[in-house]
Amino acid sequence: MPKLFFLIFRPDGPLHEALFSHLPEDVRRRCASIRRITQAKAAAMGHLLVRFALSEASGRHPGEIVIERGPTGKPYSPNLGIQWSLSHTNGAAAVCISSAPVGVDAERIGPVRQRVLRRVLSPREQAYVLSRPEGQEARFFEVWTRKEAAVKRDGRGLSINLHSVDTFSDDFGLFTTLQEGDFIVSVCGAAPLEERNILRLEEDALVRYFQGQPFSIP
Ligand SMILES: CC(C)(COP(=O)(O)OP(=O)(O)OC[C@H]1O[C@@H](n2cnc3c(N)ncnc32)[C@H](O)[C@@H]1OP(=O)(O)O)[C@@H](O)C(=O)NCCC(=O)NCCS
Repeated sequence: MPKLFFLIFRPDGPLHEALFSHLPEDVRRRCASIRRITQAKAAAMGHLLVRFALSEASGRHPGEIVIERGPTGKPYSPNLGIQWSLSHTNGAAAVCISSAPVGVDAERIGPVRQRVLRRVLSPREQAYVLSRPEGQEARFFEVWTRKEAAVKRDGRGLSINLHSVDTFSDDFGLFTTLQEGDFIVSVCGAAPLEERNILRLEEDALVRYFQGQPFSIP
């Protein structure tokens, strides 16, 4: 059963010092090398959320979580027996964990990207997005996040032709899509995501958790 951890944070606020110290050196270096502050913060928050999620699921201390990368860049945690996927964007991060391969993608709803619509979406997906004048942006990001979640579950990365990923079929896995405020989140897994398996968090709760303050999962 997939479980989703969804985090909302202030996109351009500074990263709380208590949080930064919980990131491993390689992630800190990578975040420091990202010029755009919103992207750097999103990457940092995403990696903290992974450590939170894997720690909650495995009972290990966040500092003991080891993350490695496969040849295509797909991250994984050896010896935990937990499959997971990460997405971070301007103001939100999503981590999905499961006993089976899983993919997640979160995007802030914005204007329909016409070039992606024409070149990457299949005729059926284009027709779905353009089916009515209202709600086109949300439907576009619904399809986009499903494609990305499927690609991440598969793990081959961008060597897959995105056009070949049909988000209306179950060929890549079962999809669940949610709208969380301004964000669309899709999960692609062996089973659909159930509402009771979604944990929504805000930045302050994550700060409290990493500061070792009382924290209870609702
Ligand atoms: C890297 C990619 C897998 C996702 O990137 P993204 O959606 O821009 O960014 P996200 O934050 O959602 O996901 C990035 C995370 O995916 C994970 N990831 C990277 N390569 C991966 C792979 N091969 N398989 C699974 N997960 C992967 C990593 O955890 C990465 O974060 P990190 O580098 O900080 O550890 C790739 O699909 C991509 O660049 N896609 C954008 C291309 C596009 O035009 N998409 C249109 C969709 S219609």
